Amino acid sequence: MVVSLEEKVLMPEFLSKKPKLKFLFTGGKGGVGKTISAAGLAYRFAKDGKKTLLVSLNPVHSLSSLFGQDLRGGVIKPVEGAPNLYALEVEIDDVVEKYKQNIAKRLSEFLKWADIPMDPKPFIDIATTNPAFQESAMFDKMMDVVLQQGEEYDVVVFDTAAVANAARLIGLSKIYGLWLERMIESRKEALSLRVKLSFRKEKVMEEIKKDPLMADLLSMQDRFNRVKDILLNEELTAFFFVTLPLSLPIAVVKRFIKMVKGFDIPVGGVIVNQVIPKAVAEATTNEYIRNKYREQLGYMAEIERDLGPLVRSYIPVYPSEVVGVDMVARVSQDMFSWIPDFLDELEV
Ligand SMILES: Nc1ncnc2c1ncn2[C@@H]1O[C@H](COP(=O)(O)OP(=O)(O)OP(=O)(O)O)[C@@H](O)[C@H]1O
Ligand SMILES: [Mg+2]
Repeated sequence: MVVSLEEKVLMPEFLSKKPKLKFLFTGGKGGVGKTISAAGLAYRFAKDGKKTLLVSLNPVHSLSSLFGQDLRGGVIKPVEGAPNLYALEVEIDDVVEKYKQNIAKRLSEFLKWADIPMDPKPFIDIATTNPAFQESAMFDKMMDVVLQQGEEYDVVVFDTAAVANAARLIGLSKIYGLWLERMIESRKEALSLRVKLSFRKEKVMEEIKKDPLMADLLSMQDRFNRVKDILLNEELTAFFFVTLPLSLPIAVVKRFIKMVKGFDIPVGGVIVNQVIPKAVAEATTNEYIRNKYREQLGYMAEIERDLGPLVRSYIPVYPSEVVGVDMVARVSQDMFSWIPDFLDELEV
């Protein structure tokens, strides 16, 4: 059986069916093209007149090198040469430090309120050296952007880091919710116990209202629930997975899609990057490229067989790295129109 293009819902059609789409994410294995895909999507929305923010949640400053402009500093900057497009490179160290201070403040307030004469610093040091702390801080920042910049921008595209990080970012949302619920429950129990011990039952509600930790937990829960409602809404949010026509990245995308579906997070689809056109393979005498092309056909068949209806875009392999606004524009254009020249011959 050969691939049928009629049955596909490619990017232009997919987006036209989702006029309210506002939050887009790209995920996938390291180095597969998450950043160029996120930029290609963002560029398109901006070109269509939408005020668009491209956010990098990567520890490495990938947007600056992609656009060849200084977009660092952890503040939103307009992208030169791309009207309506803005970029934000989240500075991990700043985010972690702020998050740490916030938690330290909460903890000291709580210790004071509970009359526990203890220095919170050692606890904070232990908590913040946990490797998951950085990810919690990034997740928190992502929630901030969804709630704040989501108001101000028509579209926000997130370029997330490599697979483990993005997976946790997604997984955290569920765990975070459960954790908050548990915390609130045990806080209620602790508070009613405290009131019971003082034999003044009518004081429970009063006590709960005064408790800074409780107030904090409730506001965290409210904020989290608002973000969750947005991220799980398939009219508003879509996660795109980027793969190469290679075994490992395909396996990662398959695993990812399963996991994301398990969290009820809306899957936007798959972007297949670095496809060698048939014309290129035929025109070259380079054995390496010809072999790569033959190898690619097998992987492309696998993608069509297992992920076919989810494929939204194909991006060809370019003669050089993707750098500068003009190259991003080209990626964007290809994401919305390019189809491999061998697709209709592919046996699946
Ligand atoms: N189709 C392509 N043709 C040529 N070069 C490409 C193509 N796609 C990506 N590249 C180059 O490959 C490198 C990796 O791409 P990109 O940075 O988008 O991947 P990534 O998934 O974001 O990587 P990381 O996991 O490190 O964040 C970049 O140097 C980019 O310019
Ligand atoms: Mg990247």
